[in-house]
Amino acid sequence: MSDILRLEHVNKHFGGLHVSNDLTFSIKTGQVTGLIGPNGAGKTTLMNIISGIYIQDSGQVIFDGKDISQIPPYTRARMGIGRTFQAPRFLQRSNIRDNLLIGSDLSEQKSFTKSFFTRQNMTFEEELNRYMKVAGFDIDLENDITSLTYGQQKLLEIVRSLLSHPRMILVDEPAAGLNNAEIENAMALINIAAKENGIGVLLIEHSMDMIMNICKEIVVINFGKVIATGTPEEISSNEEVITAYLGKDADD
Ligand SMILES: Nc1ncnc2c1ncn2[C@@H]1O[C@H](COP(=O)(O)OP(=O)(O)O)[C@@H](O)[C@H]1O
Ligand SMILES: [Mg+2]
Repeated sequence: MSDILRLEHVNKHFGGLHVSNDLTFSIKTGQVTGLIGPNGAGKTTLMNIISGIYIQDSGQVIFDGKDISQIPPYTRARMGIGRTFQAPRFLQRSNIRDNLLIGSDLSEQKSFTKSFFTRQNMTFEEELNRYMKVAGFDIDLENDITSLTYGQQKLLEIVRSLLSHPRMILVDEPAAGLNNAEIENAMALINIAAKENGIGVLLIEHSMDMIMNICKEIVVINFGKVIATGTPEEISSNEEVITAYLGKDADD
């Protein structure tokens, strides 16, 4: 699998706090890469650096072979970097369909008309219905966004990001606040992204069930530094990771 994104010696400080400390790793296309570590380790900051909300103090962000370090967030989104947020962000006065449509014509790779078709020539509605089914939704799209539960809004954020046909997505803690059935649905959506749509996924998550289930590779950070990378098996038996993050749970 080829790299869709590569971070090269990325450093970021907030005042005296070294939040990204010489971060170097790659995200491959067609698979899920997990990003784990304790609260405050710098995971969300890193997603903000990749999506362009923050600019690193030094180092490079390479997307599809191009240095995008100085490119603004909206251009990165058009280039195909999708994301979801730790807390869902929707237009509260619009209905569900309108909120989804806002995400869907972002992609520069397709003309406006073409953005209504996917790789397999599904119409926008067909593609939307497919994701909504996988997400476990049986709702009227004309309903207000506020009629959805928090868990449903988080799932809908993943659906919205997929509808823009990104080349990679950054997913920040999708399982937080979801019930077990919703977590299964979130995993199914993320698996579709990686395996069927063939895009790269960077997944931040504290649910080790989810991480161990769907990640091909895992990057562990602590105090802004990569302390380990490897397969789920390698990570779950790594002493430093157990001490810094997995703690007692790993022995349970
Ligand atoms: N805009 C900011 N200004 C100052 N400090 C920040 C800012 N964003 C995050 N931080 C700090 O950087 C550290 C890493 O935060 P974050 O990336 O959100 O961690 P994580 O997502 O791993 O829990 C924390 O100590 C946090 O308080
Ligand atoms: Mg975070």
